[in-house]
Amino acid sequence: YGNVNARAIEVASSLSVPSETVDLNWDNLGFGLVHTDYMYTMKCSLGESFTKGELVPFGNIEINPSAGVLNYGQGLFEGLKAYRKEDGNILLFRPEENAKRMMAGAERMCMPSPSVDQFLQAVKATVLANERWIPPPGKGSLYIRPLLMGSGSVLGLAPAPEYTFLVYVSPVGNYFKEGLSPINLVVETEMHRATPGGTGGVKTIGNYAAVLKAQGAAKAKGYSDVLYLDSTHKKYLEEVSSCNIFVVKGNTISTPDIKGTILPGITRKSIIDVARDQGFEVFEKPVTVDELLDADEVFCTGTAVVVSPVGSITYLGKRVTYGNTGVGLVSQQLYSGLTRLQMGLADDKMGWIVEL
Ligand code: COI
Repeated sequence: YGNVNARAIEVASSLSVPSETVDLNWDNLGFGLVHTDYMYTMKCSLGESFTKGELVPFGNIEINPSAGVLNYGQGLFEGLKAYRKEDGNILLFRPEENAKRMMAGAERMCMPSPSVDQFLQAVKATVLANERWIPPPGKGSLYIRPLLMGSGSVLGLAPAPEYTFLVYVSPVGNYFKEGLSPINLVVETEMHRATPGGTGGVKTIGNYAAVLKAQGAAKAKGYSDVLYLDSTHKKYLEEVSSCNIFVVKGNTISTPDIKGTILPGITRKSIIDVARDQGFEVFEKPVTVDELLDADEVFCTGTAVVVSPVGSITYLGKRVTYGNTGVGLVSQQLYSGLTRLQMGLADDKMGWIVEL
């Protein structure tokens, strides 16, 4: 992707980009939007391909009230992070995986998608243009949010006539307010996130609106988030609102297999490899609630949450706790294995890191 780099640098360097790091309270970053300098946009018509995008000042966008995304939810998003290394260089983690996932989602949602090269170029250009917002090493990361939406007008139900690809960024710290402390989950037994044949396996925006009600009810009761079950048997684990789930028993780690109702997380996939590399036996298979309640340790994975240990699960009013207090050993070991790679502190044997 050498020429992608060159083009991204060219796009970003045509702007006036102040280089000194922003004066922010880096120790207080949570997961909320911080306005940055630039965003990337690119448009195309239905049936055509994206051609050329541009960086514009970050801000509101204008959209027709009858846009496909507003009326019929024709939209996708992605999430990835840029880290600042000790030597000042900027690292991206497996960005082409996000590009490919967006292409797969676009196919499901009847949208044209940027190519892998276009996606990478847009991400890199946006990161470089907002370089001063990347937290110092160890203080967090720059969260990158690519969007793809039906921005053209439709009234009758149909794919929109025009599409917009947009990338914006925000410096972030920990996703859960618990920070790295274990989170408390409740198993949702009434509402479901996804159904077989539906869109649970792609990162469409509606999947996330669909979980707000159960998530809100859980938060009101003091839980961190909700764990969803499969809608057919109400017995197998699916995922948490914003992340995938893993259960640990002895030297064995299990996570629900990808079968169309679960988001194929890039952190999920990476943790499977990191765990195997660390000597664990990892299974992607149907995981029952019983296995969950009987586990030694439970943790969640996601770009935003990274590896988040679970301290307790509540199922039908019964609460099971893990690891007494504090972070489980396996979660800690995997968190460290993954984040050392992402921050450029460990040897990148897998070839996952893209350095800007
Ligand atoms: C991510 O982990 O990047 C996501 O897209 C989840 C989102 C709900 C924050």
